[in-house]
Amino acid sequence: MAEAKPDVAPVSWTRTMTDMEFELFSNMIYSVTGIKMPPVKKLMLTSRLSKRMKALEIKSYSQYYDYICSPEGRSAEFHRMIDAVTTNKTDFFRESDHFSILAERVIPELTARTRFMQGNPINIWSAGCSTGEEPYTIGMVASDYFGENRSSVSILATDISTRVLETAVNGIYTENAIKPIPLYLRKKYILRGKGDKAGLFRISPDIRKMVTFRKLNLMDKRLIPGAEMDIVFCRNVIIYFDRGTQAELFDKFYDTMAPGGYLFIGSSETLHGISDKFIPAGPTVYRKK
Ligand SMILES: C[S@@+](CC[C@H](N)C(=O)[O-])C[C@H]1O[C@@H](n2cnc3c(N)ncnc32)[C@H](O)[C@@H]1O
Repeated sequence: MAEAKPDVAPVSWTRTMTDMEFELFSNMIYSVTGIKMPPVKKLMLTSRLSKRMKALEIKSYSQYYDYICSPEGRSAEFHRMIDAVTTNKTDFFRESDHFSILAERVIPELTARTRFMQGNPINIWSAGCSTGEEPYTIGMVASDYFGENRSSVSILATDISTRVLETAVNGIYTENAIKPIPLYLRKKYILRGKGDKAGLFRISPDIRKMVTFRKLNLMDKRLIPGAEMDIVFCRNVIIYFDRGTQAELFDKFYDTMAPGGYLFIGSSETLHGISDKFIPAGPTVYRKK
């Protein structure tokens, strides 16, 4: 009997990346996204990019780099390279203390401000929203607070990665993903899939309508979120940036925020020694001066 052929040919595109190729990619990724790629990340970068090269049947990292820089590659592949190099880990109710602070302190305080009393919504921005768990968590918490008056809150959710935004807009998650959502909120705001969607769960239309998703690169010279922000969530994003990039980003957030607005960052992140334009207002929660 003839020996069965392996269905995957031996692949020369899994060859190692030279130091020069690594430098080309890490410089490009840093200048476009702000994400630092120190040499310890070479293996990770190799493995993530090799998947794209395999899909395109490109056999060397230099060739892939040239393709990305070509007019054709810039429009067809560049965003996929960005998708491949971003880290998108997220969860519903991640670092859940923040959502208690939001519901118990921040929203009540903001509703007492003149701007809100004059009929303006509370503007919340989830910057680096990944697959949507963070802005939908904010939506559920705010909706639980305001009941039918959901238009009291407007949520903008942005990310640099096209792929995660597609998932976010769909708002469909696995049973495992929705587990951190408290049961009473699941009952109110999560729909159970039927037929070919059995085993999957979708965020209710009421909550999905509260969130506007948009592609936005936080490295843009000026951030134009479209409204003055009362609250910014930028959690677990700046860990990938160096201190200079972090400082520039906080300056830009400062410019987009209302006086006394709140900034939430990740529990392993800090503004200490990076920006003095905000004052501490809780565990990794800050207020614009
Ligand atoms: C680890 S996720 C954090 C998601 C969510 N904020 C959380 O804490 O669960 C980081 C997200 O930041 C996004 N990101 C990284 N660099 C970015 C940039 N320059 N502009 C916009 N988004 C960026 C990534 O695509 C990724 O989805």
